[in-house]
Amino acid sequence: MRLTDLREILRYVPRFRDRVFVIALDGAVVEDDNFANLLLDIVLLRSLRIGVALVHGAGHQIRRMAEQSGQVPSNTDGTGLTDAATLQMAINAANRVTHEILEGLSANDLRGAYSNAVVAHPAGILQGVDFQFTGRVERIDTALLEGLLERDIVPVIPALGLDGEGHTFRLNSDAVAVEVAKALRAAKLIYLSTHKGVHLGSQLLRQLSVDEAEGILRTQRAEIASGQVSKLEQAVRAARDGVPRVHIVDGRVEEGLLAEVFSNEGIGTLVHANEYQAIRKAQKKDARAIFALIKPGMESDELLRRSRADIERQIDDYYVFDVDRTPVACMALHFFPEVEKAEMACVVVDPRYENQGIGGRLVQYAEAQARAGGARELLCLSTQAYNFFQQKGGFQVATPDALPPSRRERYDRSGRNSLVLTKRL
Ligand SMILES: CC(C)(COP(=O)(O)OP(=O)(O)OC[C@H]1O[C@@H](n2cnc3c(N)ncnc32)[C@H](O)[C@@H]1OP(=O)(O)O)[C@@H](O)C(=O)NCCC(=O)NCCS
Repeated sequence: MRLTDLREILRYVPRFRDRVFVIALDGAVVEDDNFANLLLDIVLLRSLRIGVALVHGAGHQIRRMAEQSGQVPSNTDGTGLTDAATLQMAINAANRVTHEILEGLSANDLRGAYSNAVVAHPAGILQGVDFQFTGRVERIDTALLEGLLERDIVPVIPALGLDGEGHTFRLNSDAVAVEVAKALRAAKLIYLSTHKGVHLGSQLLRQLSVDEAEGILRTQRAEIASGQVSKLEQAVRAARDGVPRVHIVDGRVEEGLLAEVFSNEGIGTLVHANEYQAIRKAQKKDARAIFALIKPGMESDELLRRSRADIERQIDDYYVFDVDRTPVACMALHFFPEVEKAEMACVVVDPRYENQGIGGRLVQYAEAQARAGGARELLCLSTQAYNFFQQKGGFQVATPDALPPSRRERYDRSGRNSLVLTKRL
């Protein structure tokens, strides 16, 4: 690995720290030579304080058991009817895979546990056919899984569910992974399969919004390679239900998992939720969130000290950037109409959302607002982030003389000696 790879990885860490990734492994991936590397990748995720829950299938093992025994399973992917004999095969195969994963975790000094966190009910009689031991997920015992994650234990979850009477039902592992990801409010759901992502004809689909993915399923379903349709369907379901990013990656490729998670150039398919993003004028109720955003900057002396009351008093000057209706960045714009200038201040992006272009968008927005408000020059004062405003925002270094008189007075009194930057509008 190159040092630049490590830098790339570290850029993503603050956003994912203390969040959970649900990794769904096809049974075939657990038997692949690359599984040892995947375990190392999981060790790395854990060392970065990213929680990992592993969901796995066992279709590959069931097919092999069937070949060896001559017994014909009623289905191998947990979606059709499951008779009593197939249920037994599924339990044996799943236990075998769970055990192999636990062995792998032990070999890498990670603790893992198999639990009864998946509560299931019979799928029932569908279009006149009794699906017998095929189940559907009723709910996930979230407290149980969270309890394990809090203790640094990797939950290992096969595609089997239990009901309150102690009956076992066979489930589809891709669907279980969606439910687990929803229950744990996972930052990512990552499917590791034996396909190189989802293909439309011969073209690999790289990044799709959930709307685009749904559109393809509706209109071009026949062109998606078989075996990849259900993954894409589950990805859409997860993204619709609040999992921000779902990745479908080839689990047999070395570094595939890390490349997918920690770079902009993943190797598989990414389905992302339609994030609601917007810049809007702040309201009084945002004062608390703005204060929380700027507090670290005030403590490190990058930002001028302001109290919550100061912010509330000037709330009309503030703007916030929402992601899913939560302010993750802010900016203030103060006008000096007497000199046809405006000052952009308090540009702060929550560290978990840095390097996504939000800071840049706020600067552009401030420029547009300042111009629309009649300003001919935009000012900005900075002690530590001036490079950002120069290099990314096109600001020039000026002298304090560029400040309007009333602002100059406050500047001199503060003794902060901030760099004064200006941009002609
Ligand atoms: C500076 C800040 C606003 C940038 O926000 P952001 O949303 O991460 O910025 P963007 O995503 O639009 O731009 C990221 C680019 O700016 C660069 N950048 C970030 N901070 C920088 C800095 N201090 N100096 C130079 N470049 C910087 C990044 O390296 C990245 O470069 P790339 O596009 O070449 O990879 C944000 O890091 C922040 O809130 N910092 C702390 C508070 C602060 O200093 N505010 C300024 C006081 S007014």
